[in-house]
Amino acid sequence: MRKAVIIGGAAGLALLSSAVVAQVTAPTAEVMTAGQRGFAQNCAVCHGAEGGGGAGPSLAGNPVTASSLGVVQIIIQGYLNHGMPPFGHLSDDLIAAIASYVRNSWGNAHGEVTVATVASIRADIAAAGPGE
Ligand code: HEC
Repeated sequence: MRKAVIIGGAAGLALLSSAVVAQVTAPTAEVMTAGQRGFAQNCAVCHGAEGGGGAGPSLAGNPVTASSLGVVQIIIQGYLNHGMPPFGHLSDDLIAAIASYVRNSWGNAHGEVTVATVASIRADIAAAGPGE
């Protein structure tokens, strides 16, 4: 009885995760190449060339990368009190490419972040005004 419930749960979970996977759009090779370049130039010094971390935390398998909002927001605003500078001066195109690269490298597979998503998050941040 108990076993049946567990199997049912696992089957349910498999169904759920295949539904989620179906919605994920992998970034194009072009976006990944641009993202890799942007990451190497702006992020690797702290997060490691292979995303394994250093002064900043490892991004490989990091649950934060599952959220496109979380990744884009931290790129634009940084995390000043914690040692990460803001990268809001980068273009929406480059931020989208870097966010897509981070979310789809080193075992992460969370799908692309579009330029439109970055633009809308940037607008929300501007509307909210300066944080603490
Ligand atoms: C000067 C070092 C530095 C640079 C450069 C840097 N980061 Fe960070 N980053 C950090 C630190 C430190 C944290 C941890 C902040 C905290 O949560 O305490 C962090 C946190 C993050 C997080 C959240 C991870 C988590 O577990 O909370 C993401 C995602 C991230 N950085 C992505 C990037 C990207 C993408 C770039 C390049 C555009 C970048 N970082 C550049 C230092 C850096």
